[in-house]
Amino acid sequence: TNQPRVLSGIQPTGESMQLGNYLGAVRNWVAMQDGYDAYYCVVDLHAITLEPPEPEALRQRTRIVTAQLLAAGLDPDRCALFVQSHLPEHPQLSWVLECLTGFGEASRMTQFKDKSAKSGADRQGVGLFTYPILQAADILLYQADQVPIGEDQRQHLELTRNLAQRFNAKYGDTFVVPEAFIGKAAAKILDLQDPSAKMSKSRAENGTIFLSDDPGVITKKVKRAVTDTESEIRFDPEAKPGLSNLLAIHAAFTDTSVEAVEKEFAGQGYGALKNAVAEAVVAFAQPFAARTRELLDDPAELDRILARGAERARAVAGRTVADAYAKVGF
Ligand code: ADP
Ligand code: NA
Repeated sequence: TNQPRVLSGIQPTGESMQLGNYLGAVRNWVAMQDGYDAYYCVVDLHAITLEPPEPEALRQRTRIVTAQLLAAGLDPDRCALFVQSHLPEHPQLSWVLECLTGFGEASRMTQFKDKSAKSGADRQGVGLFTYPILQAADILLYQADQVPIGEDQRQHLELTRNLAQRFNAKYGDTFVVPEAFIGKAAAKILDLQDPSAKMSKSRAENGTIFLSDDPGVITKKVKRAVTDTESEIRFDPEAKPGLSNLLAIHAAFTDTSVEAVEKEFAGQGYGALKNAVAEAVVAFAQPFAARTRELLDDPAELDRILARGAERARAVAGRTVADAYAKVGF
């Protein structure tokens, strides 16, 4: 294939993906299956950087995310869908990149600072510090041209680009230097209870809409979303982050611009907008959850899909590691 290559990943943390994962990233993954040589990875090695889940729970979360990705529209005939831990090439390349990363450079990663501050663990694992480097390996292994991600991953992608360039300069042309693909409107979906933070699987229940939530739960979460004390519906992410977040969610689900949604609801109360947002999310989430449950009823088929994906991934990743290792002198 001479199509450009695309690679992206999602962590199997929690019992479900959240709204931001879908709108910020996965929706673009689905769109990019055609027109791109697409590789999508469930990054389970990244899921033990904080408190590691029970082994069986982690295995089940990997299946859940896989089923959700399929329910979202990924088609194993049009993309390689695989699990990171199935390919030892990821940590193999990561080691070489770790040795090229400056300690100060790694210390500047804001997600590391956020996550370590919030984890509350009495002992911080080194893996939490080095995971952006593993993430760089995840991307560079596949010689990806484009990486569809949410805004929160921009800094990590910049590190990935720097490491690719550094390796290439030292050992000769080896890695494609990837570009971030960040959608506009839905690149940063905010926590409904704390609009100063992005929505995340690892944040508190009430601010996060999980795509497995029941319609009643989704509606309640949207209605309780923190907004502001004014009453004017206006898209202004600086002054009105909570309200602007709702406008962005609505625009994304109805495939229009925030300007159009702003116009549609101008002069109406916040309640009307919240009702419409809840309806739009439920209209997507309900059939999505039903399809996910169907897929989870056949775990053997999920495992077959992932085994096939791993085989396709290995063909590319194996070549990259062999090339990089030979250049380093291994
Ligand atoms: P999480 O924080 O939910 O665990 P992941 O680290 O698994 O998310 O990220 C999977 C993808 O989803 C990444 O491309 C990331 O940029 C995107 N993403 C995560 N949260 C959001 C959000 N709130 N808004 C937009 N995109 C997001
Ligand atoms: Na494809």
